Amino acid sequence: MNKNWIRKTRIDKNISQFKMAKALGITSQKLSAWELDKETPSSDELLQIYHFFDQPNLFFQKKGISLKKKTFNRNANIPKKKGVQNEVLEKFYNSHKYPQITTDKNMKAVMLFSGIGGMSLGFHLAGYNVVGHVEYNKSANKIYSLNFPESYSLGLDIKKVTDEQLDLFKKEQGEITVLAGGPPCQGFSLAGKRNVFDPRNELFKEFARFAKILKPKVIVLENVKMLLTMQTKDGGLVRDYLSEEFRKSGYELIYKDINAKEFGIPQSRERVLFIGLRSDLIKKHNLLFPESTHSNSSSNLFNQNLSPLNTFRNATRDLEQLESGEYSMSDPWHFAVHHPEHVIKMLRDVPEGKSAHENKDEKLRPTSGYNTTYKRIKWDEPSSTISTNFSMISGSRNVHPKNTRSLTIREAMRCQTFPDYFKLTGSLGEIRKGIGNAVPPKLAEFLANYIKTNLLGGKNNQP
Ligand SMILES: C[S@@+](CC[C@H](N)C(=O)[O-])C[C@H]1O[C@@H](n2cnc3c(N)ncnc32)[C@H](O)[C@@H]1O
Repeated sequence: MNKNWIRKTRIDKNISQFKMAKALGITSQKLSAWELDKETPSSDELLQIYHFFDQPNLFFQKKGISLKKKTFNRNANIPKKKGVQNEVLEKFYNSHKYPQITTDKNMKAVMLFSGIGGMSLGFHLAGYNVVGHVEYNKSANKIYSLNFPESYSLGLDIKKVTDEQLDLFKKEQGEITVLAGGPPCQGFSLAGKRNVFDPRNELFKEFARFAKILKPKVIVLENVKMLLTMQTKDGGLVRDYLSEEFRKSGYELIYKDINAKEFGIPQSRERVLFIGLRSDLIKKHNLLFPESTHSNSSSNLFNQNLSPLNTFRNATRDLEQLESGEYSMSDPWHFAVHHPEHVIKMLRDVPEGKSAHENKDEKLRPTSGYNTTYKRIKWDEPSSTISTNFSMISGSRNVHPKNTRSLTIREAMRCQTFPDYFKLTGSLGEIRKGIGNAVPPKLAEFLANYIKTNLLGGKNNQP
């Protein structure tokens, strides 16, 4: 008999794993273990399974399970009812609370395009008060305000925040230390179609306008690496255009392409960072970039001060091992998407670091896509870039090193260095988007500390 006959029959009959487990009075994990051939049902259990497949409705009726929904529900394992979900979340967040962080009332940060708050969390952890933000996505804003209830929303669409509003905010807040943000990068991104005429690129000008009015001491701007080679409408380089725009606003700007893994983040994430210092502070402080702190072992031979790269294993070692469709009973954000059987078959025996495109058996190779897709992450290397579609098993290096499935939300958060106490809410799609878009909080924290010590002369010695 086919090894996966239980799963196959269940799917043929359009029954979710959740419902079948409930009807049989067992856990979804147990059913999953049978389906993946990790455990074998006893003879009594086998008999039950045969009876169930013969007359599923009888079992459903007995257990009071609704028969209304006939379609196969990929996410059947995720608690759907609002009340249940909220209860689980409440319990989880009650045992994962924000630590007490001492902030300095003179260190104030304003976040533009704040997303769910990756950059903001980093600055907060470094002791800054995040006093204001601008973000127009409703779902991102919801997550943001759950985590930063004291940050004032300066507005939704940045283009609609008036100069008068900014003047008023400045009067209320006094000196702003850092203005930071990552304007949307789709117009410049490699993943999307690069379009120099994309109106979203105009948002950089809005950033410069905010700088001109709020006059922060320091500016931090994060974006995709491709920005460095992008051209403006007139054929000039975007990076030069940006430096010029900010110079007009009163700032000296330096930029550097970095990889987050070189700063201890367990993820390869290439970005460009711009740091700007207000012109009147330039003479007092050297405007330099921080040196990387981590490197792979061969480069460490030359620089003994660097630590080894952080790895996917380090970031996720304490999490439960889940297969497709399984979920954690203790962590509401650690559940695996239910992938189609034919994809699991293709990927099941693929070793870490390899792609299903390299399978010896041609029938087990994907029919389309680049060799970088359908690929497993390596345990002992940083993860691939956490993008907004990290739940797609067919994506680029999106497959777990051991389990045959894409990353869970918790794993993606760990690779992005979001602590478990960071609160999430809303639709799964929007949550994944916010995580994929974020600046890793630990990278932002490193930068925020560097700015404090090197560009602002230390905590007690402010310019
Ligand atoms: C790359 S994400 C920023 C992520 C953020 N830095 C973090 O660390 O979580 C860019 C954000 O800009 C927001 N955005 C795009 N256009 C905007 C606009 N016109 N006004 C305000 N926010 C905008 C998007 O909704 C998105 O959340």
